[in-house]
Amino acid sequence: MTESAAATGTDWRAWQDSWDRQQEWYMPDREERFRVMLDMVEAFAGPEPRVLDLACGTGSITDRLLKRFPKADSVGVDLDPALLTIAEGYFAGDRRVTFVTADLADPDWTAALPYSSYDAVLTATALHWLRAEPLAALYGQLADLVADGGVFMNADHMRDDTTPRVNAAEHAHRQAARDRAKAAGALDWADWWALAAADPVLSGPTARRFEIYGEHAEGDIPSVRWHADTLRAAGFAEARPVWASPSDALVLALR
Ligand SMILES: C[S@@+](CC[C@H](N)C(=O)[O-])C[C@H]1O[C@@H](n2cnc3c(N)ncnc32)[C@H](O)[C@@H]1O
Repeated sequence: MTESAAATGTDWRAWQDSWDRQQEWYMPDREERFRVMLDMVEAFAGPEPRVLDLACGTGSITDRLLKRFPKADSVGVDLDPALLTIAEGYFAGDRRVTFVTADLADPDWTAALPYSSYDAVLTATALHWLRAEPLAALYGQLADLVADGGVFMNADHMRDDTTPRVNAAEHAHRQAARDRAKAAGALDWADWWALAAADPVLSGPTARRFEIYGEHAEGDIPSVRWHADTLRAAGFAEARPVWASPSDALVLALR
């Protein structure tokens, strides 16, 4: 844990909560997505899995994992120093959790991990920050990290360009709901980062994360089919969606 995270008396739970509210502004069904993800962890790996929380941010998946499966272990990996500061502060002293700083686009990122095999590798709302080519390469690395019979799950925005009118109507409907929530005081991405930048503990790591990413890394949003096909080509035995919303899907790949 960083020294500042230990010493400040920062309310890490409050930062977790405000992160969740901000993410829910984009994805009102985020909790349902997590619930199905953990149902599938239980189905394939049982109640004591070793999990890799990939692009963990503040550790949202790890938090829900440990509440539901107290005997699980989790390694969180991310590149964002501000979100990792919140994660480290929030989980401080919990021996079930380890955080690692690494860039998933770096071909050697797995060298930073404490274990070479995981029962489940889980990720949410993150891999659309990568371009398709590095994402396909990452899927190849994940096939090596997931234990036999274990699973990889990616919950993310997934776009189907064959349905433009459906996409437009769904997008307009979702945007109207966001506009209403914003008028009622909801924070979006930019608002939330402005709060972090103004916080005495988070301002330094927040400045560093903007140097790394800018506002947001530019990636691709491939279709469910692309993800499933690419995961099979990467070495997974089976892959398909296990949940979907109008804008997102949860793709599961079995090793
Ligand atoms: C929108 S957040 C989602 C965080 C968390 N999974 C959640 O659901 O709350 C996207 C995360 O992906 C991480 N990320 C994006 N590109 C990355 C990369 N190349 N290496 C490591 N982490 C990355 C970001 O730092 C950020 O924490």
